[in-house]
Amino acid sequence: MNTIEVGVLGGTGMVGQHFIRFLQGHPWFKLTWLGASDRSAGKKLKDATQWRLDGEMPKSAAEIVVSECKPQNAPKLVFSAMDASVATEIELAFAKAGHLVVSNSRNHRMEADVPLMVPEVNPGHLALVRAQQRLRGWSGMIVTNPNCSTVTLTLALAPLKQFGIQKVMAATMQAVSGAGYPGVASMDILANVVPYIGSEEEKMESETQKILGSLDGARIEPLPATVSAHCNRVAVVDGHMVTASVALSSKPTLAEVQAAMESFQSVPQQRNLPSAPPKPVIYMREADRPQPRRDANRENGMAVFVGRLRKCPVLDLKFVACGHNTIRGAAGAAVLNAELMASEGYLD
Ligand SMILES: NC(=O)c1ccc[n+]([C@@H]2O[C@H](COP(=O)([O-])OP(=O)(O)OC[C@H]3O[C@@H](n4cnc5c(N)ncnc54)[C@H](OP(=O)(O)O)[C@@H]3O)[C@@H](O)[C@H]2O)c1
Repeated sequence: MNTIEVGVLGGTGMVGQHFIRFLQGHPWFKLTWLGASDRSAGKKLKDATQWRLDGEMPKSAAEIVVSECKPQNAPKLVFSAMDASVATEIELAFAKAGHLVVSNSRNHRMEADVPLMVPEVNPGHLALVRAQQRLRGWSGMIVTNPNCSTVTLTLALAPLKQFGIQKVMAATMQAVSGAGYPGVASMDILANVVPYIGSEEEKMESETQKILGSLDGARIEPLPATVSAHCNRVAVVDGHMVTASVALSSKPTLAEVQAAMESFQSVPQQRNLPSAPPKPVIYMREADRPQPRRDANRENGMAVFVGRLRKCPVLDLKFVACGHNTIRGAAGAAVLNAELMASEGYLD
């Protein structure tokens, strides 16, 4: 494949920096353009923002002169990591101008003609962009990835879809990096748990139903399962944990469910997409795993780790899942979406 130039809208921000880091050395995509607010436009990245991730700002990105978030001169493929307060209009402007906007922001996720993708879970939903282009009369497109906790939950649930998911009760323990920088005040989170993350529970419930739903022409028929989420912020740096209880219509044995999780693979693995982990769901047999500090970074941050599968006295079974919130839940998720799009010829 020829190298494809890419840009990042919101490239100076926290998620933007994760995109910059994740794209280093990518075999298909080359980062050549960064967009941000007029506070940063016209400055080299190294002068526009401080590097908030481990290590140094990558040298090739440091010298890029940040542009205003306007479609002129931006590459055709742009990742979006913009502040949600401005993402709606800017992403629309880029799609109208013919750009392929692969967004990590929440703004367009639940629109009927916008694919909300986890490539291993619902690769077929990408076809919705054809309806989007027809209905909106534009040559560009908007494709989104879900909220960081939803990614972990839906990847863990995907192997169970064959058993008929009826009800899901999920509780999260979410890392502080999910709140960006400077994020949650240290006086609020140290030695503490904050049992509220604004609009997170609603997003987890509706996004899970959309992702696990089925494509029906120009819309997604949501999974007819009840999903209830409790979202909590905990004093962890990276890695969201989700504990879930699930009711399944075909009443499989625990051994059948574990086997389904352990053998789960999907289109990104079959196509050998560069950012796809060999096993998207890794079942851990140790009694006290997964754990965010020990597991979230493994597999380049792109796999979801599941464990403690056991019977649930209220629903049918319960388990714990853990995933890297800023990689699999943000930058890595969007890059994998773009790789899926490239593998289907959308970037030609
Ligand atoms: N943090 C996470 O872990 C996480 C996870 C999943 C999703 N998200 C979502 O990702 C998005 C970015 O989050 P973040 O934590 O990276 O935020 P952030 O650090 O505050 O970065 C926001 C970015 O948006 C740019 N921006 C702000 N106002 C703008 C304007 N008027 N025009 C153009 N660009 C503008 C900023 O540019 P300047 O530097 O020039 O101000 C910056 O590049 C949000 O929608 C958030 O909900 C975040």
